[in-house]
Amino acid sequence: MYRTRTCGDLRHADEGLVVTLAGWVQRIRKLGGMTFVDIRDRYGITQLVFDEKDNAALCEKANKLGREYVIQARGTVRERSSKNANLPTGDIEILVSELNILNSSLTPPFTIEDESDGGDDLRMKYRYLDLRRTVVRKNLELRHRMAFEIRNYLNDLGFLEVETPVLVNSTPEGARDFVVPSRMNPGQFYALPQSPQTLKQLLMVSGFDRYFQIVKCFRDEDLRADRQPEFTQVDCEMSFVTQEDVITTFEGMAKHLFKAIRNIEIKEAFPRMTWQDAMKYYGSDKPDLRFGMKIVEVQDIMKGYGFSVFDNVSYIGGICAEGAASYTRKQIDQLTDFVKRSQVGAQGLVYARIEADGTVKSSVDKFYSQDVLKQMKEAFAAKPGDLILILCGNDAMKVRKQLNELRLEMGNRLGFRDKNKFSCLWVIDFPLLEWNEEDQRFYAMHHPFTSPNPEDIPLLDTDPGAVRAWAYDMVINGVEVGGGSIRIHDSNLQDKMFRVLGFTEERAQSQFGFLMNAFKYGAPPHGGLAYGLDRWVSLFAGLDSIRDCIAFPKNNSGRDVMLDAPSDLEPGQLEELSIKVDIKN
Ligand code: AMO
Repeated sequence: MYRTRTCGDLRHADEGLVVTLAGWVQRIRKLGGMTFVDIRDRYGITQLVFDEKDNAALCEKANKLGREYVIQARGTVRERSSKNANLPTGDIEILVSELNILNSSLTPPFTIEDESDGGDDLRMKYRYLDLRRTVVRKNLELRHRMAFEIRNYLNDLGFLEVETPVLVNSTPEGARDFVVPSRMNPGQFYALPQSPQTLKQLLMVSGFDRYFQIVKCFRDEDLRADRQPEFTQVDCEMSFVTQEDVITTFEGMAKHLFKAIRNIEIKEAFPRMTWQDAMKYYGSDKPDLRFGMKIVEVQDIMKGYGFSVFDNVSYIGGICAEGAASYTRKQIDQLTDFVKRSQVGAQGLVYARIEADGTVKSSVDKFYSQDVLKQMKEAFAAKPGDLILILCGNDAMKVRKQLNELRLEMGNRLGFRDKNKFSCLWVIDFPLLEWNEEDQRFYAMHHPFTSPNPEDIPLLDTDPGAVRAWAYDMVINGVEVGGGSIRIHDSNLQDKMFRVLGFTEERAQSQFGFLMNAFKYGAPPHGGLAYGLDRWVSLFAGLDSIRDCIAFPKNNSGRDVMLDAPSDLEPGQLEELSIKVDIKN
């Protein structure tokens, strides 16, 4: 039954050949005494022809086929009289002489076409049928090619792929863990790794100076379009390196992928932006640089003219939307509603149109002279036809984040977020620590093993919040596609870090003792990075959600609707695990 040809590779030049194809019935049409069956496999679609005049019994057999039947057909390749320019095989067809029905099929619950009539839930439930659709299959093919290129690139640089365990210990300080009960150790639990972070650091202590792994990671977090509870990292670590070495190596990998997969040659170094600048000018640590619309602060210009909304706040900032002065009242109202939504959380929106003659018409005209408005216009470098949108508040960081949402929304509306345009950057100089108001303590922004920038180490005692980390993220089109850091390898500095994080010595020992002890046995300086493979694939495939490049993804409630997981356990199984379920509603 070995197939030498596929439903995707027959062409003009094959006319006259006798071939055998196997695949699924995509479509059946009857026309006069002829029956046309489109047969589909992983490689494409080919038209089979059955001619009643030629072989009535065979034609009758073909007429009984249904959608998604599995068949094998043998016949002669011939030129098609009405060609289909949309199909690579559209010039030919197979005049069938032998038809073998390998299996029948129920009528599928949705059409297996690029544009399917099945809704999301239905397609998730029958994911194995959804995966038959070319558009979905292509995403997995792309994923394979990317993983292959990643392995090529890293192998050429001497990286070793090492597998690390999936049943590990729970890690505090991260997202929530998924846990697995241990039958042999009643009342105790493994955790699934949120990333192999500590294990890859231990591999550095073991002397594997260039490690990588394409690895599943698990995080019990709220899901979004670019987040799945289990996702895949390209996890890497290197010894004897500086931040510059890591950045250069993985920028090289990014460029390799752009060239190998998208045929985009990027010669220049990726721009770098400090975290401070990213927050100040874009209100985000992952700015989308496909377009400008930088945030401009105007509190120095706009305060003190009797407009109480502005007079009573410390921060006033805005963006200038190029060419949007023609926005109607209704469109402005929509934007106002947008910024007031709970996910954005602004109080209101002030706008100013720049008229053709350069005058400024704003929603707060009565408080401001043209002079002041012109100063504002200049601060934004606004031109006639532009629309300035302003938000304000007392918490500058909060307003900047709101402006980020507004900027992205305007970017969408104005068509600046073209999926075929790529804008890469490194965000560097992340703060080492983040203050948590609720717990009244610092948390590590990346993780507790991230090295402070040595220049800032003295600040650990005086102003910990101002310490910069040797940490870096790669951002493409507003998506964090990867991140990493140089690690602390000195146990004294690590002790200090735990102290700043409010750990007692006992707690540090009990939670991270294995790593701290390992560091006493000659830990080399090291650092690394992890790329999010799902995010890379969806960027290259132009997908809206990473779900579409994962063979069997979870839905937004973290469920696998096909497997119906998670699910209840049998009472006996719970007992064996010494577990009592006590659900409180
Ligand atoms: P981090 O937590 O930044 O770093 O993760 C690295 C990259 O993984 C991707 N990612 C995700 N992708 C899909 N769904 C998720 N829920 C999800 N969470 C993260 C992102 C992110 O940039 N151990 C460190 C890396 C290091 O320091 O070397 C780590 O895990 O693209």
